[in-house]
Amino acid sequence: MTLPIRIAPSILAADFAKLGQEVKDVTEAGADWIHLDIMDGHFVPNISFGADVIKSLRPYTTATFDCHLMIAPADPYLEAFAKAGCDRITVHAEAGVHLHRSLQTIRHLGKKVGVTLNPATPLSILENVLDDIDLILIMSVNPGFGGQKFIPAMADKIRSAKSLIGDRPIELEVDGGVSTETAGLIAAAGANVFVAGSAIFKGESVDAYRQTIGDLRAAAERGRVGSN
Ligand code: DX5
Ligand code: ZN
Repeated sequence: MTLPIRIAPSILAADFAKLGQEVKDVTEAGADWIHLDIMDGHFVPNISFGADVIKSLRPYTTATFDCHLMIAPADPYLEAFAKAGCDRITVHAEAGVHLHRSLQTIRHLGKKVGVTLNPATPLSILENVLDDIDLILIMSVNPGFGGQKFIPAMADKIRSAKSLIGDRPIELEVDGGVSTETAGLIAAAGANVFVAGSAIFKGESVDAYRQTIGDLRAAAERGRVGSN
């Protein structure tokens, strides 16, 4: 199944002093989803923001809020993130021993269900939950920080994830080091959702955001066509 290319700016790289305006600006610039990176200083070595911040950002856009929880444990906080206005909630497979329970909880909260894997985590962990999820997020850097380089070995992992998905309507998202240089090879490997933080927010105006989002989309579309 071919799902649309979606560009998801990560506001981790935005100006935190004006987050509402940043969310509004990237929406106007053509973002499909807003990627929200939640870090707890425990599962990953950095702290970002929490559910209250998301709640206060919700009025600034109607775009999908794509929440990436880099927290352990995640289960006690799922309801708060759902209530804050997240449309999709993605948990790390490494964040707890009861992955299936976390996925069920997100489903029961009425949100789209995602699982993400650190670069070293094998795809086999997903085999028994494929029919319980709406999204697989392949981390192409070690989570915790923006601005890192795409790990080249992740291209093969994306390809394998695509084949594992088969005909299921599961979004295949890639996060870390996504740029106009890497978007083509990521799309050729089979991904359709592109998270980009520093590549987009290094621009300093709505026009710059629009340009980069358009360039990312074009590079992804070209990569996709080239792979057929
Ligand atoms: C990393 C985060 C990413 C990050 C991507 O832990 O999950 O979403 O913001 O940043 P860039 O696009 O700069 O690699
Ligand atoms: Zn992320």
